[in-house]
Amino acid sequence: MGKNQNVYDNEIFFEGYKGIREQENNYNKLQEQPAIKSLLPDLKGKRVLDLGCGYGESCSYFIEKGAEKVVGIDISKKMLEVAEKENSHENIEYLEKSMDNIENLSEKFDLIYSSLALHYIENFKKLLMDINSLLREDGLFIYSQEHPLSTAHGNGRRWTRDENGVAVHYNLANYMKSGKRETMWFIDGVIKYHRTFSEIINTVNECGFQIEKILEPLPSEEDIKLIPKMVQDFHKPNFLVIKAGKK
Ligand SMILES: C[S@@+](CC[C@H](N)C(=O)[O-])C[C@H]1O[C@@H](n2cnc3c(N)ncnc32)[C@H](O)[C@@H]1O
Repeated sequence: MGKNQNVYDNEIFFEGYKGIREQENNYNKLQEQPAIKSLLPDLKGKRVLDLGCGYGESCSYFIEKGAEKVVGIDISKKMLEVAEKENSHENIEYLEKSMDNIENLSEKFDLIYSSLALHYIENFKKLLMDINSLLREDGLFIYSQEHPLSTAHGNGRRWTRDENGVAVHYNLANYMKSGKRETMWFIDGVIKYHRTFSEIINTVNECGFQIEKILEPLPSEEDIKLIPKMVQDFHKPNFLVIKAGKK
């Protein structure tokens, strides 16, 4: 099995991604973050593990909400440098580590969280089993990923548009072919792993979780005023967000 890619340490990719995240309004701020944060439990006194923590923004948020301890894991040195600079706290520990090696963590957590990182992982089943064994008995697993209708895409045009550039429909292909996709996002050769909706749900279920909630966030009217192209999200959701308890 191949080693998971560390594309966020690529200088061009890192700068491109930072540009998007620094925008006043973006998909993370308007859609994905409000959805995933709406699923969080009361965090007072809780221990949280954040997989693919990136800049550590959520780690800081968990501390603000009363978490006792937060561990943020990321494969990218450059992302963690930002986390250490902008989101350090005595009760946050950042570890440079791939999340396919979390089985050797010694502590257990009340919440294992991951925002938009699991579609980079080849062996989803092993990861979910490791997550399950790192959770306390009444622990929660809450994560978001690119929606399977998005990860299905490889290269080529994602949308069919009319003469005014308005999206008429999404060009879905190869949805039922699970596996590796190499796409262009700031640079060529960005690797993601596509899994169908049923494969995701069944794997979560088979790895010892009970799904409590699934979200496919949509833009509000306000969001569409801020980013007009978000109207196309009524053809196809961008994100899948899952909240699951330990069985
Ligand atoms: C889209 S960013 C999201 C960052 C952060 N969760 C957030 O919401 O701001 C994806 C993050 O996952 C990290 N990542 C990708 N593959 C990983 C792996 N195998 N192990 C740990 N982190 C990984 C990347 O380095 C990057 O920081």
